[in-house]
Amino acid sequence: MQFELSEEQKMIRQAARDFAQTELKPGVIERDEHQKFPAEQIKKLGELGFMGMMVSPEYGGSGMDAISYSLVMEELSKVDASASVVVSVNNSLVCYGLEKYGTEEQKQKYLVPLATGQVIGAFCLSEPEAGSDATSQRTTAIDMGDHYLLNGTKNWITNGSTASTYIVMAQTDPEKKHRGINALIVEKGMEGFTIGPKENKLGIRGSDTHSLMFTDVKIPKENRIGDEGFGFKFAMATLEGGRIGIASQALGIAAGAYELSVQYAKERQSFGKPLADHQAIQFKLADMATEIDAARLLCHRAAWLKDNGLPYAQAASMAKLFASETAMRTTIEAVQIHGGYGYVKEYHVERLMRDAKITQIYEGTSEIQRIVISREVLK
Ligand code: CAA
Repeated sequence: MQFELSEEQKMIRQAARDFAQTELKPGVIERDEHQKFPAEQIKKLGELGFMGMMVSPEYGGSGMDAISYSLVMEELSKVDASASVVVSVNNSLVCYGLEKYGTEEQKQKYLVPLATGQVIGAFCLSEPEAGSDATSQRTTAIDMGDHYLLNGTKNWITNGSTASTYIVMAQTDPEKKHRGINALIVEKGMEGFTIGPKENKLGIRGSDTHSLMFTDVKIPKENRIGDEGFGFKFAMATLEGGRIGIASQALGIAAGAYELSVQYAKERQSFGKPLADHQAIQFKLADMATEIDAARLLCHRAAWLKDNGLPYAQAASMAKLFASETAMRTTIEAVQIHGGYGYVKEYHVERLMRDAKITQIYEGTSEIQRIVISREVLK
């Protein structure tokens, strides 16, 4: 077993760590407060090659492995989970799916600009009545011969208004249930495609979440990804990798809150000595450190399995389940360690606590991860 990162992986981690400190940290509180999308920062992340990390250089990507992706997600998320979710969706849910299942024409037209960070992508599966129950798609894509006619509404779409390329799951043949769903590439500006107002969220407030409405939008047949009826499997296979990204985001949120807590515990005096000299605080830090290490190992194992072409659905769900619950517990404890300071914005941990919650919800709730894991266990 090899637990040591390669020199290249360490360099990539350091680059992400430096970026987070110099480019994300300044302004992160204001962006959260005013729900401001980190547009400049995302542009720079594109220039660094972080928007198409695992895409082959042939299509404008950086050709890195999934472990490097996990490392970058962790480092960015320690500071700004609103920026890191944009990175995660673009990399795992949009670029990965297009590279693995798209046609050569789709790759040239859509993947190259996404992987080079010229444009951002969005993944549109959730609906007002189909979040966890993803097979119950109400959005329809009626086959009109040379095109599909797309009608319906998608909810809680990350990068909703900032994206240019949207992958939309829609039902073409209801009799075939999930086997009648297609994944279609939709472009911003297509006639009949409208974007609803921005959601006012508890956390990841800098990210851009919207409903999307489709009314008789004509989607050319060449914009379908994979064979007719492949859309649900496309969504599930893509989400497997996405769960490594969100698990690593949760890990980063936890690790960020933990690092701030260690620093604060050493600096802050109470009852005549540093907080860190109180056993009540030492025990909290020990629990946080242990859980974060366990979450990191689960994330890296899932990424390693993916890199080695081995099945990783269960490992990705375990990583996401454990890391997201670790993020929640750790950030709550971080606020407690900071006391009153933890409850105000300047100390960052209250934001990390709010940001942590979404990692238990998006790309499959904790309950969905338990379904995926228990099915494997009981196979
Ligand atoms: N890869 C490929 N195919 C898969 C698969 C995978 N990982 N998982 C399932 N499938 C296939 C199955 O083989 C099956 O195919 P057949 O019927 O042809 O054999 C088909 O998909 C249906 O699978 P299930 O019977 O398992 O479907 P189900 O309805 O019982 O349950 C579920 C599936 C796991 C609950 C699924 O609905 C699910 O994951 N739901 C959560 C959806 C989700 O994560 N939404 C997140 C939205 S995106 C987001 O949050 C992005 C963002 O903004 C950050």
